[in-house]
Amino acid sequence: MIHFANSAATTPNPPVVPDTRTATEVESFCRVFSVEEKVASTAIPNLKNILGIHNPLTFSMLKGGNKNCPILVTKHDGNRALPFAVLKRESKPQSATARLRIIDMMQRQGCRQLPHIFKSKDNAYLVPVGKNIFSCMAYIKSDVEGRSLFTLDQMFELVRAFHAHSRLVPEIEDLGARDIDRYSDIKYAQLAPELMAWNSALFTSEAWGRCVKCARYFIQPSFRAIYNQLPVHVVHGDIHSGNVIVSNGQHFLVDFDLLKKDIRLLDFVTFAGSINLDEFLRVVEEGRLSSFIHAHYGNLEEIEEKYLPFIVLFGRCCALSWSLGVLKEAIVNKDAEKIAHFKAFVESRIHEIDRLYTHIPEIRAAIPSEAVTRQDLFHKKINMGAHIFNTCREALKRIWKSVFP
Ligand SMILES: Nc1ncnc2c1ncn2[C@@H]1O[C@H](COP(=O)(O)OP(=O)(O)O)[C@@H](O)[C@H]1O
Ligand SMILES: [Mg+2]
Repeated sequence: MIHFANSAATTPNPPVVPDTRTATEVESFCRVFSVEEKVASTAIPNLKNILGIHNPLTFSMLKGGNKNCPILVTKHDGNRALPFAVLKRESKPQSATARLRIIDMMQRQGCRQLPHIFKSKDNAYLVPVGKNIFSCMAYIKSDVEGRSLFTLDQMFELVRAFHAHSRLVPEIEDLGARDIDRYSDIKYAQLAPELMAWNSALFTSEAWGRCVKCARYFIQPSFRAIYNQLPVHVVHGDIHSGNVIVSNGQHFLVDFDLLKKDIRLLDFVTFAGSINLDEFLRVVEEGRLSSFIHAHYGNLEEIEEKYLPFIVLFGRCCALSWSLGVLKEAIVNKDAEKIAHFKAFVESRIHEIDRLYTHIPEIRAAIPSEAVTRQDLFHKKINMGAHIFNTCREALKRIWKSVFP
């Protein structure tokens, strides 16, 4: 008993946050977060504490993302409604805090491409809402409606500006694993039977065959050995036009879900392999990659210049692997809207991999498509077996339904 009383006496009192909730803000909060009113009673004052404001707030979903859509917090000042902050759900408190600390540190040290990160007076970066936790950053007002498109040189320059600060970040623990350590070709080699049953033409096409070969190349020790030689520092991990906002003519990066310590080339792979793929292939085909890098980024090492196209391809294989997982889940859950969305996603990734493969001779030389290995034949048989099994199962189901409706 005495021990309990003593420890309680040394625990600082939590800060008193005035409760200024209004019926409108509670209603919009509960709707957007899908929670009950009692959750709002602690979460809203907590959030106002982190934001350092007492104004009434409203909440809405922000459109535009694919993975983890953020929530917009609008501040009401008299008759004025000002979009003020953006909340994003975080699944791992430790790594989220580490990422937010880095962004906060870089922003305070002058990285002009980053939004302000909110934190409480006692340095808490995360806002709990019921069982979930959220990060909280400043809303950046875009100069245009919808997405902007950026040229390849603009994207390289944006990476340069971000890396000028991220390479100085001291060693920070708890960040996510490197892409090479998370990568596996399992989703290609053992294609989910649900995917094959859903669209066998897509997964027996020549382009798909090339994707499987590329995917396999990246699990080989020879590729890992190259990866391990490439320079490493903190990277954003997902730089593409959807994660760039232009506000007052200045470029800002958002979406720090994949921020980690990894090879710096990773920050080129999403845009160069996707939206800016045509431009990237043109630069490579015209033999201008090296001079282009020097003009718009600066100092890449020789080994990085040589392997940049391979790392772009690696990025596409990682993206396809992720999309296959989401598509399979959508098929299993019969979520038609998500199926349509991720079908387009998967098709685009297959197309990008195929184009990188067919247009870059160094890639074709390193990953020959003709060599059909025993492993290929084995996987082909497994996939065909799964396909036949699923087709029969579906046919039997239909017959069963027609006999016993
Ligand atoms: N701080 C912000 N200010 C303004 N808009 C933002 C902000 N953060 C995200 N957005 C908008 O929301 C969209 C989705 O957010 P994002 O963090 O990229 O989610 P996802 O992980 O789903 O890609 C972005 O493309 C951008 O348009
Ligand atoms: Mg995004």
